Amino acid sequence: MSKRERTFVMVKPDGVQRGLIGEVISRLEDRGLKLVGAKFMQIDDELAREHYAEHVEKDFFPGLKEFITSGPVMAMVWEGQDATRQVRRMMGETDPADSAPGTIRGDLGLDLGRNVIHGSDHEDEGANEREIDLFFDDDELVDYDRVDDEWLYE
Ligand code: RTP
Ligand code: MG
Repeated sequence: MSKRERTFVMVKPDGVQRGLIGEVISRLEDRGLKLVGAKFMQIDDELAREHYAEHVEKDFFPGLKEFITSGPVMAMVWEGQDATRQVRRMMGETDPADSAPGTIRGDLGLDLGRNVIHGSDHEDEGANEREIDLFFDDDELVDYDRVDDEWLYE
């Protein structure tokens, strides 16, 4: 479990439209995670197919692709101890209706197809690195120390 583990996080088009970028960033910052990359962008069909490759054949994919390409997203890379799993825990379940209050989806969403945030799946080995590589070039990620690092980790 590396303190330097990186994970891919995205505020989806619904979160952007609803003005929740700051709220999501705030929660991740407050947790102690470190932002190392960010890109405000719009996903095209090709990137949607690559990012959601595991879902391309599923019934819900056309709707998912339509939604994820429908407006800008905030794509980010966050770093910290056990970052991939911890972000998923903070997100809640895939369906906001099943997500506990206190989680991002449980506090900010109601509907499965409008669940505010994406985070790399920690149960899918290497998904974090694959998604980071898909959205970011190496020189778009920044290595730096944060002043509170020694107060966050023993
Ligand atoms: P995501 O990849 O978007 O972060 O969400 P996730 O891991 O929690 O869920 P995943 O199984 O990867 O599904 C990707 C997105 O597809 C939509 N979905 N719709 N209609 C359906 O049965 C269904 N199942 C999934 C959700 O919006 C989910 O976030
Ligand atoms: Mg997923």
